[in-house]
Amino acid sequence: MKPARIDGPCRLSQSVLWRWQRRFYEEQGPAAFTSGVVPWRITSCLLLAAAYADAAIGFARDLPGPIQLLELGGGVGRLAFNLMRALEQRGVPFHYRFTDASRANLEAAAQHPQLRPWIAQGRLSLQQLDALEPTGLTLPPGPVVVVANYLFDSLPHDAWRTEQGIARAQHVEVWAAEPDAPLDRIEWKFVDGATAPPPSVVGYAAALGAGRFLWPTGSIGCVQAIAAQLRRPHLWLVADKGPAALAQLQGEDTASLARHGCVSASVNFDALRAWAGWRPFLAPAVPQMRFGAYAMVQGLPAGSVSALRAAWSESAAHNFPLQAEVLLDQLASSEATVPQLLQALAFTHFDPDALLRVSALLRARLSAQTPAPQVAALVAALDETWINRFVLADAHDLAFEIATVLHRAGQLSHAAAYYRRSVELRGPHATTFFNLALCLLDLGNVAEARTALEGTLAEDAAHPRARALLAATG
Ligand SMILES: C[S@@+](CC[C@H](N)C(=O)[O-])C[C@H]1O[C@@H](n2cnc3c(N)ncnc32)[C@H](O)[C@@H]1O
Repeated sequence: MKPARIDGPCRLSQSVLWRWQRRFYEEQGPAAFTSGVVPWRITSCLLLAAAYADAAIGFARDLPGPIQLLELGGGVGRLAFNLMRALEQRGVPFHYRFTDASRANLEAAAQHPQLRPWIAQGRLSLQQLDALEPTGLTLPPGPVVVVANYLFDSLPHDAWRTEQGIARAQHVEVWAAEPDAPLDRIEWKFVDGATAPPPSVVGYAAALGAGRFLWPTGSIGCVQAIAAQLRRPHLWLVADKGPAALAQLQGEDTASLARHGCVSASVNFDALRAWAGWRPFLAPAVPQMRFGAYAMVQGLPAGSVSALRAAWSESAAHNFPLQAEVLLDQLASSEATVPQLLQALAFTHFDPDALLRVSALLRARLSAQTPAPQVAALVAALDETWINRFVLADAHDLAFEIATVLHRAGQLSHAAAYYRRSVELRGPHATTFFNLALCLLDLGNVAEARTALEGTLAEDAAHPRARALLAATG
């Protein structure tokens, strides 16, 4: 079928794309994150949680009281979990309000076995909240820290073009071959439009000079709407992808929308900084398009957040989550040694997702000749990583990965314990049972090894090695 225009031309922020995007998250719920469609790793990682905990504690020195966290668009709750643990480890009192527009996400968070204890203790509460039209938002006394990770890219944007400092609207048309085409089969294109730029865009376009850029209309509306609800000073902590310096936008076309099962904008943090004006605004020391965490303070003058500024320059400004991504990418194509791989894991604060990326490398480097101190460090690192897991119904079996690394390192009883955890948590699997049997045979535990071999055959009746070993040990 020939493609037909199904929406527009209209302002990008008015486009049907954002409504479809909302519907995507409502329909998908947690599956948006467990299916691999929506990236979440960097915005929910332990390193970012640590940086946010440091920033929140700094802010609570400037504005004393128990920290009141408010997370918007929290998704499946992984950052909430990591951030609450980071605050607890630092021994500071807090309350966490976890919110999302998607009811399915909230229901999943309410039932999550690792979040329920916090709810029972009264330190975590959940609320379905539209970040663009928040209502009924009341928080206990204390400094409020609003967290919005990887949300601003999902809120409506407008597109503008500027030549010689004059802003011209870029409207959007959406095209599809069938009226109900899935999001990955629709196309959009920008065309010149007649919308007059608001004063903030006029000033920004003049400073930019030339380029095509996105204006975070929805994010600004969200910041204003939350301020109207809270009516007291608060700190924003926001992490996302997007340009953060005028030089990254000048003469460039940054008005891009990505597809992650739905649309996702590149957040123009330089525009947000311009809009923030007098408000304290903190950014990574080196602006990066790929990822950055930003802070903005509402309702306090610049000179009044010195503890926040100090905490920021020691922690969040270094952009450790992006450094970790770069490091892990480099390791994948290097001849890294076991100590180097363990150092990388330690750099991520023993993040389970980092382990999943280096476990094959570890297995490849480990042998019977690996020195005992390295093996001891490996065991400690793997146990620490296990403690940091946030359980989701995704494709990864962390217990199995850890078991196979320990198995390769000759740590048989420890490996067997993780194989058993894998069966307990992820269900029976022929390979898990068979590997467990091999460990048990090497440990001289023939009776249990035979049970594991029978488990292998129950899952895969044609498993020739299990059959042969059962016959040999019978
Ligand atoms: C890209 S995901 C980010 C999830 C999580 N913060 C992270 O970093 O992985 C965007 C989340 O924002 C939610 N969302 C989208 N539009 C929203 C809105 N207007 N108000 C509140 N949440 C919204 C979605 O349901 C989804 O959980």
